[in-house]
Amino acid sequence: MRTFKTLLSLIVLAIIMSGCAYNWIVEEEVVDPTDPDAPDVSFSAEIAPIFDSKCTSCHYTGNQNPDLTPENAYNSLNSSRYINTSDPASSLIYTKPSPDGNHIKYSEAEAALVLTWITQGAQNN
Ligand code: HEC
Repeated sequence: MRTFKTLLSLIVLAIIMSGCAYNWIVEEEVVDPTDPDAPDVSFSAEIAPIFDSKCTSCHYTGNQNPDLTPENAYNSLNSSRYINTSDPASSLIYTKPSPDGNHIKYSEAEAALVLTWITQGAQNN
């Protein structure tokens, strides 16, 4: 009986302790592109760094178009080929790296940022 009680309290303790386990999965913050009150997305501070980290290994000056290096990305994209502000979700710079192609993909948070930036007028901000 004593052993049983000890065992029982150990199990209860284990259950309580496991409730304190730290959750290491940090969720990405995803902006809502349809939210008119969404804070302004900055091209230079938020969009260009995505391109620089994920895209410029192929999309660099003189290689595959569009040139997505931080100094040229805005000018390369500033055309109706890549950006459609009247139908943001159809913009090639948003659709090409979408999750259902065989091209490099944006994460969910990156895709939402790019779409929000286009929805807000694709400013060079
Ligand atoms: C491994 C190399 C590679 C990486 C990395 C890459 N791309 Fe590409 N991308 C290509 C190639 C090759 C093409 C042309 C073939 C095609 O259209 O699929 C292309 C085409 C494109 C096009 C269409 C160009 C046009 O004028 O038709 C866009 C837009 C694009 N990429 C955006 C991106 C973005 C944004 C990223 C980063 C998230 C990225 N790419 C990362 C290789 C790459």
